[in-house]
This record gives sequence, C-alpha cells and structure tokens, in this order.
Amino acid sequence: MSSETPASVETPETKASRASRKDDHVRLASAQQTEGPRRTDFDDLEFVHHALSGTNPELVDLSVELGEWTWPTPFYVNGMTGGTETTAKINRDLAIAAAETGLPMACGSMSVALDDAEAAKGFTVIREENPDGFVMGNLGAGRSADDARRAVELLNADALQLHINPVQETAMPEGTRDFSTWLSGLEDIVAACPVPVVVKEVGFGLSRRTLTLLADIGVQYADVSGAGGTDFLRIENDRSPADDFSMLTGFGQSALACLLDAPSEWTTETTMDDGVSNRVLLASGGVRNPYDVVKALACGARAVGVAGTFLQTVLDHGPDGLVDLVRTWQTQTSALFALLGARRSTDLTATDLLTRGRLGEFARLRGID
Ligand code: FNR
Repeated sequence: MSSETPASVETPETKASRASRKDDHVRLASAQQTEGPRRTDFDDLEFVHHALSGTNPELVDLSVELGEWTWPTPFYVNGMTGGTETTAKINRDLAIAAAETGLPMACGSMSVALDDAEAAKGFTVIREENPDGFVMGNLGAGRSADDARRAVELLNADALQLHINPVQETAMPEGTRDFSTWLSGLEDIVAACPVPVVVKEVGFGLSRRTLTLLADIGVQYADVSGAGGTDFLRIENDRSPADDFSMLTGFGQSALACLLDAPSEWTTETTMDDGVSNRVLLASGGVRNPYDVVKALACGARAVGVAGTFLQTVLDHGPDGLVDLVRTWQTQTSALFALLGARRSTDLTATDLLTRGRLGEFARLRGID
C-alpha cells in the first residue's frame, strides 16, 4: 500500500524510501503470520449442527456469481504488493499459483508504477504469468481518475481495487492525515474507470455508514477487509516508533462484524433503473482456513479475500506450495459445504448461526438479530 499524498507536500517521498516501505510491509506482515494463532471474531461464530442436513461434496459447485463475473472458487488473492525486486518476485509467485488454480488475484498499490517504468515491471509480471486470469489492479483513495485509467491499462486489469486506509495513513510516517477529499475522489474514479471498481479497506473494516456512502456514489463492489488478520496499525507503529499510535490498538471492525452490520442494499437484491442489480459484498481480513471462508460466506460475503495467509505460503513454499494449499482449500471447502447442506455458496445463508464473545457483543450493541 502506498501513501497517496500528492507530490506537492513538503517532504516528497523518495523512490528509495518508497521501495523500502514496500519491503517493510512484507517483512512485518510476515512476522505477524509467524507469531502463532490468536483468537479472532471468526472463532466467535458457530453453526448450529444439524446431523441429517448434509449433502454430497460431488454435488457442490464452488463457483460464485459476482454481478457480471463468475469466479471458479469463492476465495481470491487479495491486494498486497509490487514495485521492488523482492515484491516483484512475490507477485510472480502469486500469479503463477493463480494461473494454475484459476484463483482471481489483485496486486498491491500501483501508484509507484505510474511514474516509474522499472517499478511497473513488478506488476506487469502478473499479466505475463497469468495472461487469461482474473486480475485486479490497485490504487489508493486520493488518486485521480486518469491514474485509475492508467493503472487498469498497465495491467489490462479486469477490475480495479481502490483501498481506503485512513487508520494506516494516520499511523504511517509518510501518510496523509487529510481525508476530506476521499469520497468525492472515489466518486470521480468510479464514474470514469473503464472496469468495475472494488472499494476495500486494508484491515479495519467498512462500517454500515461507509457502505451506504459507497452505494450512494455508485460503487457496486466492496470488500469490507476487517480487523483480526494483518494489522497495519502495528506494522506502521513498528516502522515509526517515534510517532507511535498504538493507543489505537483494536480500532475497527472485523470482517464478520461488518458483514452482519451491512445495510440491506448490499445484502439483498435491489431493483435499479435498468433492472434487478445486486451490489456485491466481499470480505477479507484474518482468513486463516476454509472454515473462515465458509463463515464469511454464511454471513453474506459473495467471495473472500486472503492476503497474509497466502503471502506466508509463497514466502515459505513458493508457487507450488500455494497451488497445493489452494487445492486443499478447494477440497475442504466442498467438504464443509456438504457438511452444512449447501450445494452453492448462496445456500450457506440459510444455515443457523450463533454469535458469541466479542462478535456477539458487537451484534447485541448494534441491535442485530
Ligand atoms: C496488504 N494489503 C493491501 N491492500 C491494498 O488494497 N493495497 C495494498 O497495497 C496492500 N498492501 C499490503 C501489503 C501486505 C504485505 C499485506 C499482507 C497486505 C491489505 C490486504 O489486501 C488486506 O486487506 C489485509 O491484509 C487484511 O487481510 P489479511 O492479510 O488478514 O488476509
């Protein structure tokens, strides 16, 4: 991710410091992955078990419909990186695995690629390795509609992720603290972008109010990207101990909390002027295994993004390791669907859910049944 601070600020970021930030993000995100398990809101969601409601995994169809797209699996590689030698290799490895398994994939913020041909190669490698796959570009709020068009063109992208990351920017030494133009900027990009825009957070969640604002400006796809997984507040605090924002620890909502709290215009079919349309709600943040994927789908996500877990897999085991992991996840996701009596992911919304602990408390405080 990058600070989207305009180049005219007093201390423009140098190429070298931008590159070192990209590498820092990977190093510190990976350090979090190796810390061992921690309790998250995914552990606070349970299915009521119905022992005679199951079906046959061979009848399960894992493909998902997302508006105009059909994806072969209900999970995808979320936006992470690119722009340096180290991160180009990560993108290459992710893209090889995505091509082999049919997984949709996003890259990290491409702002560095827009004015540096060398850095751009760290992103275009994704198209070279995966010419026919579903690929999403990525930019931050605060960029222009023209930048969005250039990013899409560079990658021949099928969609553009636009990240909104105010918590991270607040704690980031090079970050902006002026968010006043983000909403109108997003609106311009959504109107001008040649491919659909997926607005996403980076691990602090999209609230009910934010999702309503996004719907109002015509956004059709949003990834709530909630708390509990890769923690960018900690990453930025670790990068700049002198300007520490750890007082914000725990800020934001988890993916499941956001899904449960999402407004109905994101969770039910809506009739638009040109017919019935469905806004598409995606989820990510702290997804560790296929059971987390299934829980997010049951709470209304149409597909689930995975960043930190897949990053660590390619760092430890290369593209072959990620191919093996994705195949295991596909088999296990089908088995979980069968256990829960779901032939399609949309059937999961009919399961009986219980919320406990922190998630249950959030649901109670927000008046969610
Ligand atoms: C990210 N993420 C991210 N998101 C984005 O939209 N643009 C970006 O450039 C980045 N950069 C980035 C770097 C690294 C190393 C990681 C691990 C993640 C955020 C990512 O897409 C996701 O929203 C969060 O990481 C939460 O998901 P996980 O990691 O808990 O699965």
